[in-house]
Amino acid sequence: MKVNGVPYRTIWLAEDGWGVEIIDQTRLPFEFITVRLENVDDAAVAIKDMLVRGAPLIGATAAYGMALAMQADASDGNLKAAHDKLLATRPTAVNLRWALDEMVRLLEPLSENERSKAAYQRAAEICDEDVEICSAIGDNGHALIRDIHKKKGEGEAVNILTHCNAGWLATVDWGTALAPIYKAFDAGIPVHVWVDETRPRNQGASLTAWELGRHGVPLTVIADNAGGHLMQEGRVDMCIVGTDRTTAAGDVCNKIGTYLKALAADDNGVPFYVALPSPTVDWTIDDGREIPIEERSADEVTKIQGKTDSGDVVMVEIVPDGAKGGNPAFDVTPARLVTGLITERGVCAASKEGLKGLFPEKA
Ligand code: MRU
Repeated sequence: MKVNGVPYRTIWLAEDGWGVEIIDQTRLPFEFITVRLENVDDAAVAIKDMLVRGAPLIGATAAYGMALAMQADASDGNLKAAHDKLLATRPTAVNLRWALDEMVRLLEPLSENERSKAAYQRAAEICDEDVEICSAIGDNGHALIRDIHKKKGEGEAVNILTHCNAGWLATVDWGTALAPIYKAFDAGIPVHVWVDETRPRNQGASLTAWELGRHGVPLTVIADNAGGHLMQEGRVDMCIVGTDRTTAAGDVCNKIGTYLKALAADDNGVPFYVALPSPTVDWTIDDGREIPIEERSADEVTKIQGKTDSGDVVMVEIVPDGAKGGNPAFDVTPARLVTGLITERGVCAASKEGLKGLFPEKA
């Protein structure tokens, strides 16, 4: 996607052919800054501290982290150490494990002097594949938006609610939940997005609003608690969210608060779709309660970042001195609350049969 007219991906190889560049997402929406990763530690910190985030981008960064590790030391010992270090960064998004397993499977049988080149090549392929997959998700989800638009009638905007950031910033390009919205918007369908602010880190208010706005998509940022009310008033035509891990039976783990939106959508007959690339499916489990839920720092709840009128970006405390914060970062939406999964191969039911139908080789 473009930033100030310049096409960007969220991660790319530096001009010298070995460093890796990323967009520092902790600085958005106030500053657009790129950062260079030079070793596996840089990649691990970028994931852990959320300079990069979003399940597919975490996977892509881990793949490049393995390449940076192999560039420094391609021994068996370092291959394992890099894998373990990167795997420990964030527990919930399964794309991390998927990308690391993919790299180890490729690199382990190779000789030490073949590993670095092969690692960079596979990391680049993983990025390219993600772009293709997300573009296909966009096409498949666009068809759903088009159908709703046809039913609503010409000139009527399709109102879509989304949670967190599952846009191009969360992937290598296009996004998952936002890809259908970009495709529909580019095709001339009037769309309007209700953007959940997504406390505590506000990925909706800071990232989704930024990237949709840069593309010209009409949006309204809402408090997380507003979605249910808007659905009761008939002002939401559909929800589309992303996911960090979906089980083989269609339970969906995503940013905390997603479950409450799914409950409200179910109660109000609003279609609730989840967009995901196949590497986000954890084929080893059926029950969403088995997914590890990341517990993040209480500071993310007790403090908030913003820009003052004088332009300074500051962090302020919002609770009484000594008040304790708790911060589970994800929740699980049971498959029964999900209208459909939008994948690169088409839209299916959130069920074992649905996923098996589209990905028979995995089941
Ligand atoms: O904690 P984050 O910002 O990494 O969480 C991101 C999400 O919850 C996204 O919805 C999810 O990763 C899907 S990304 C296309």
